[in-house]
Amino acid sequence: MKAAQPVLRILLFFSCLLLSSHAAGAAGVASAHPLATKAGIEILEKGGNAFDAAVAVTAAIAVVEPSGSGIGGGGFWLMHDAFTGKNIMVDGRETAPGKAHRDMYLDEAGEVIPNLSVDGPLAAGIPGEPAAIAWISSVHGNLSLAENLAPAIRYAEEGFAVGEHYQRLMQFRHEVVKASPAAAAIFLDDGNVPEPGWILRQPDLAKVLRALAIEGFDGFYRGEVAETLVHGVQEAGGIWTLEDLADYRVRIREPIEVQYRDMKVTSAALPSSGGLVMAIALNQLAKVELDTLDELAHKHVLVETMRRAYRDRAAYMGDSDFVDVPIARLLGDEHATNLQQSISISKATPSSDLEPVHQDNPKGSDTTHFSIIDNEGNRVSATLSINYPFGSGFVPPGTGVLLNDEMDDFSSKPGVPNVYGLVGNEANAIAPGKRMLSSMSPTFLETEDRIAVIGTPGGSRIISMVLQGALAFHAGASAEKIVSKPRIHHQYLPDRIQYEPDAFTAKEIVQLYVKGHQLHPRGRTWGNMHTVILNKASGEIEAASDPRGEGQASVIE
Ligand code: GLY
Repeated sequence: MKAAQPVLRILLFFSCLLLSSHAAGAAGVASAHPLATKAGIEILEKGGNAFDAAVAVTAAIAVVEPSGSGIGGGGFWLMHDAFTGKNIMVDGRETAPGKAHRDMYLDEAGEVIPNLSVDGPLAAGIPGEPAAIAWISSVHGNLSLAENLAPAIRYAEEGFAVGEHYQRLMQFRHEVVKASPAAAAIFLDDGNVPEPGWILRQPDLAKVLRALAIEGFDGFYRGEVAETLVHGVQEAGGIWTLEDLADYRVRIREPIEVQYRDMKVTSAALPSSGGLVMAIALNQLAKVELDTLDELAHKHVLVETMRRAYRDRAAYMGDSDFVDVPIARLLGDEHATNLQQSISISKATPSSDLEPVHQDNPKGSDTTHFSIIDNEGNRVSATLSINYPFGSGFVPPGTGVLLNDEMDDFSSKPGVPNVYGLVGNEANAIAPGKRMLSSMSPTFLETEDRIAVIGTPGGSRIISMVLQGALAFHAGASAEKIVSKPRIHHQYLPDRIQYEPDAFTAKEIVQLYVKGHQLHPRGRTWGNMHTVILNKASGEIEAASDPRGEGQASVIE
């Protein structure tokens, strides 16, 4: 997979939308933070390929956007090797600790104990991100892991000014972060939510990144760092062991591929539900004569396909290393036909009319995504997470590593919703070593003319966002248009359409009510989509970062 890197003449443009003017050798990076995009560009300039740049951006975004992802968390890296033409998904999802068990978040009466799977060390799965970046760098990179981690280490040591995004999300998780003295000392300004402009320095995290840079996997999962992590977790009531860390392994998965009309969609495989849910939705849509529908009917049908695809998620999906998921049946033509035929064009199907699974409270401004295409055509689409904003809010003292609260993505109790309002069943029940079901959907889209690398954070809404991004790309939209377009969402339960301001006209809202839909205006936007698009004929690269966020897209030629 290694690709030779010619010397790059660098031309940087920083803006929301960028278009390179030269045909060959262009490259693009789009991420949620200007410093992370800069780290990716720096590595490409140094002769790194897209995989090196992905390692650099992963580590840098861990430092500069600690609310969304980090080396205390995990993610999925969808990678395309231009030389072999092969796609793989590097699964660096967290695993349940060995002492985890099915009912660990239930009280004696069998009820879910509020927040136990969300706040503090008991909420943390065993991180996969350090293992994933060590693996990607050593197997697919041109540069050393130390070179790829250098920008992140620099940002952690020198510090950087936090922005409004940091402030807003910290306001939301302030009390939880305050409860962890080590986290509070790093991420708060004398116990208070920092103002934009406050300098965040993370020297302990820099030390851990250095250990990873020098020793690779062992620098995090064995030895001093591992011992400090486990000690801190256990002291605070958590259940991690040294064996949990030493036994962690990345998994290399075959991505989900689906053909939607003349567009090939390649997306995340289980333990992410993203690729499957998107495929189930697209397979239904492919059976509809969309050209014959007006705008309203179009939106109605899209909602109905989401409803059915998200129901399949709740009913069947979990870690396929542990449970049998009927993938072939879910992706089969008969299933698509049955689902599509159950859609009425004139009225909404109440979710209660579909076979039951259950309920409410979706959020989702956490997680992060970046997209990269290098000058050889290698691509990386990566969605990374520590789950809720600032994860569990817990830092084991002396490590600077903010731990995830990804355990909440398991189904603590079948039918009871998690923080995203998502329900699941036995397929996603907790078991030692198991990976919790995800919605993260790093994706490639390909038509005759163009290739897109695309994805977004946003909890349960990730899949519906990428689905709408894919449909916009298929319709020929530009990178800027794809990431900007107002979004709608339906996830089976709660049975309601969520929508961003401007997603529907006033008339459409009335018409959707008349069809029997329940509508829930969010009153605000969601997601933070980043895409890089290659024009096959010209070699031009177009990149865009979501105007909803603080990200940056850069193109070099
Ligand atoms: N933690 C968000 C997800 O994996 O879907």
